Amino acid sequence: DTTVTISPATLDFTAVAKNRNDLVTVPAGYTVTVLYRLGDPINANTPAYANNGTDTNFGARAGDHHDGMSFFGLAATGAARDPSGSTRGLLVLNHENITESYLHVNGQTRVNGARPEAEAIKEIEAHGVSVIEVTRGASAWSYVQTSALNRRITPNTPMAFNGPVKGHPMLRTAYSKDGTQGRGTINNCANGTMPWGTYATAEENWAGYFRRDRGDAAVRTAAGKANENTSLSRYGISEGRAGNYGWTTVTPADSSNTVFRKWNATAVADAAPDGTADFRHEPFQYGWIVEIDPYNVNSVPRKRTALGRMNHEGVEPSRMIAGVKPAFYMGDDAQNEYIYKFVSNTAWSAADANAADRLAIGDKYLDAGALYVAKMNADGTGQWLPLVFNQGPLTSGNATYPFADQADVLINCRIAADLVGATPMDRPEWTAVNPANGEMYCTLTNNSSRTPARTDAANPRAYLDPRTDGRTGSGNVNGHVIRLRENGDTSEATAFTWDIYAFGAGSDLNKDNINLSGLDDTNDFSSPDGIWFSLPSNVAGQGASPVMWLQTDDGAYTDVTNNQMLAAIPGRVGDGGTKTITNTTAAGTGTATTRVGKAPGATLKRFLVGPKECEITGITSTPDGKALFVNIQHPGENGDPANITSSWPASQTGTPATASRPRSATIVITRTDGGLVGI
Ligand code: FEO
Ligand code: CA
Ligand code: CA
Ligand code: CA
Repeated sequence: DTTVTISPATLDFTAVAKNRNDLVTVPAGYTVTVLYRLGDPINANTPAYANNGTDTNFGARAGDHHDGMSFFGLAATGAARDPSGSTRGLLVLNHENITESYLHVNGQTRVNGARPEAEAIKEIEAHGVSVIEVTRGASAWSYVQTSALNRRITPNTPMAFNGPVKGHPMLRTAYSKDGTQGRGTINNCANGTMPWGTYATAEENWAGYFRRDRGDAAVRTAAGKANENTSLSRYGISEGRAGNYGWTTVTPADSSNTVFRKWNATAVADAAPDGTADFRHEPFQYGWIVEIDPYNVNSVPRKRTALGRMNHEGVEPSRMIAGVKPAFYMGDDAQNEYIYKFVSNTAWSAADANAADRLAIGDKYLDAGALYVAKMNADGTGQWLPLVFNQGPLTSGNATYPFADQADVLINCRIAADLVGATPMDRPEWTAVNPANGEMYCTLTNNSSRTPARTDAANPRAYLDPRTDGRTGSGNVNGHVIRLRENGDTSEATAFTWDIYAFGAGSDLNKDNINLSGLDDTNDFSSPDGIWFSLPSNVAGQGASPVMWLQTDDGAYTDVTNNQMLAAIPGRVGDGGTKTITNTTAAGTGTATTRVGKAPGATLKRFLVGPKECEITGITSTPDGKALFVNIQHPGENGDPANITSSWPASQTGTPATASRPRSATIVITRTDGGLVGI
């Protein structure tokens, strides 16, 4: 039995009250420091951010929409890794998207329908990933503007393909005629911290950036590639789409520059049908997990294709146990998509945690293995269904989608998952693993398309939001958190048991069919998204009591409170029994019986409330547990320069004299007495 005994622990703070202030609120005894904001320069030559739309060169500034984030310890000086380093390190974080209106003087402009090149360059470079050095000074944490370790990775940064899809015909483009290279990563949402000291970033809503003109399907069909049409529509890239932000309308000053053109996936009728003369295959270059070595500014990020292609939202390693094949848990965040796990072909060797060539260790564990998708049964059991070419329906003779090979299964793992009978979920966002016992948690943020007739045990709620008479929500309005225990408590298992840890709900809502976890004023929440466990065992004084952190990205409860972060000390799968729920919406009435966790009570408590119109997402800490880093994404997102709705982070240190454009930012939270955060 590999379960760690959990010493009793309590959440040692007074819950923060729900509020709609333009401020990050934390419990008494804690300090918030704003660390790294949209536009902050990351080298000596880049000027301070004016924050008025005139700034340029986002390739040397913090990007926008901070999301998933990991801390990597550094030795006291130099660039060497120190896995326990807690006063100096590299913070690696995603820049998922942009708030276009604040990046330019007066928001997006067009001339005769075309985007100006300079605006599009800013928007592209404001996406991607940051690697920045951070240090703990005498009084506070700060980032090191001039560090040689700082790096921005953008949608233009060269990348390598690894794993079974490398070199596949569907990756061939005019940029990489052999299908082994790619350019950039985009819409990077959640993340994973690999135990060998690398960062994994997840490409989520990448499909929205692609243009696809009418007539494209006919060209592909004529080229003998009808499969590509099936794939593009399953991944949300229908004909007649212009693509987010209109980057393909740019006429670049250098006509050979294809960084705008590549977002147009439309097949050119007279181009080579294998894709090497146009950009028809660019959509297959996205939707992957990408591994980055933060300690080497010159390293080329590797797209890990063995982990499948989807709207990736995080990649959480199982516990690493010598001699056991590790698993990596992943959500596909779209309505009625699936939960996946990848099990490496290689059993864990503890020495690999400290190897010098970190991306080679990534090759060892992430390039060969089995991809599985979850099926949740009504009785609280479940199976991991393998997505393997020539097993079950995944053959070249399949009528829905004739698969060519295993690479085709990975490129189209959503189609494969449909065919094997996986359970469609209420938008799987982050995954997290409880380090004390290996149980996996997945946030199911909400699902407006869930109807009473289509509820099931694992997605059991569909209701009208009583707060708004259904105007802003029906379906699974507030989301829930599911958790799963592998049979035999091993990452190699192909079967598991599951229950629902907690249901999001307002504390005032009906406890029989909506507020099923009995949430109260100190812990009610809606639309869980980020979820992460603080490290348990290597922290002096913390014993083996992991704290689970839960972050929200909500539209249904923001009339009551801004988005928030809670701390929890959760129990175990199966500790709460069963519940039968009666669901009612305009679409009818239905019942579902499910497995629930024990009502959390005082083991779940609100730790933080964010500023106006933000989501709270992205969390990591120093290994000593004394500094907690959290991202505040898109404060004031509904405003514009003429109507600024949040002045955060300027508002964090006092009311600014004039409204200040809001900026996504990383904050660091410390205890005033220097102790462990949360417990
Ligand atoms: Fe980018 Fe599903 O959150
Ligand atoms: Ca977001
Ligand atoms: Ca998210
Ligand atoms: Ca979300």
